[in-house]
Amino acid sequence: MKYSVFVTRDIPDEGLKILAQNDQLDVRVYEHDKKISREELLSEMPNTDILLSILTEKIDAEVMDAAKGRLKMIANYAVGFDNIDIPAAKERGIIITNAPNEKISESVAEHTIALILALAHRIVETDTFTRAGKYESWGPKLLLGTDIAGKTVGIIGTGAIGSMVVKKLHLGFGMKVVYNDIKPNEALEKEVGATFMEKDELLKVADVVSLHVPLLPATHHLISEHELSLMKPTAFIINTSRGPIIDEKALLMALQNKKIGGAGLDVYECEPLIDCDPTDTLELRTFPNVVLTPHTASATEGTRQAMSRVAAQNIVAFVGGIKPPNKLN
Ligand code: GLV
Ligand code: GLV
Repeated sequence: MKYSVFVTRDIPDEGLKILAQNDQLDVRVYEHDKKISREELLSEMPNTDILLSILTEKIDAEVMDAAKGRLKMIANYAVGFDNIDIPAAKERGIIITNAPNEKISESVAEHTIALILALAHRIVETDTFTRAGKYESWGPKLLLGTDIAGKTVGIIGTGAIGSMVVKKLHLGFGMKVVYNDIKPNEALEKEVGATFMEKDELLKVADVVSLHVPLLPATHHLISEHELSLMKPTAFIINTSRGPIIDEKALLMALQNKKIGGAGLDVYECEPLIDCDPTDTLELRTFPNVVLTPHTASATEGTRQAMSRVAAQNIVAFVGGIKPPNKLN
């Protein structure tokens, strides 16, 4: 049997080459370099047995049913999978895979640390200052930041990415590590002397709070007004996971009222909007102690190729009758 694969956006080529070499697969790639419209996606589905989707596509029951029973697998080109209605897929017997791998953990960990250092050493703010021609004389008190050595990082979610972040921060920068997760992580306790804490306790002691949980009903607005109010007024919050994990309105208020020291964000509650409410006078981009990147934590050549390979390997395993390595359901 031949399987018809539809790829919703052109991805780096290594995975596409793997798919092209498999004679069980007929592969079509969306031809434009832009987000596919809902109508176009729905119109591709009746010819699709396997969907290789990216995280901007909402794959819900309507998309699945548009395939009229043909769809067997959704291989998501992402670590996250909140764009897919998993219960709906389960009901229809559709397999879902994501694309975690060592490379993506490295990239997201490096990007997370870049955001932390950017805040601590005020890199974006001082770059703006320098470009504006404001550097007139070295000053003992000019634009002082803070060092992270010896400070405490509080990590929420200690999967592959969260664990990599704290290893690098502990081994490379001498940070103390506290963590919260749904269960204790003994490996991390051994490796970096991490201490388990309830979320509220962690928020009180951490100088940097970094979020590495998947977006699920249970993690939606995991960080809201109460949580931000517990943080030290000097502490930074970093989010490279998914936007809705932080209640953006509460974050804006906490920044405005100087309840926290700053925020490093790669993801947004109403992405690709940076601010959910464009009429609100409080805007993330107006705060000098906020560093913003456009969901690019995994955006390196090597990682995007690795994700491409992993998505393809999951598909090849499935059509070969083997359990895909990253099967989620
Ligand atoms: C990116 O956000 C991913 O989930 O891979
Ligand atoms: C700073 O440049 C120093 O030399 O301390």
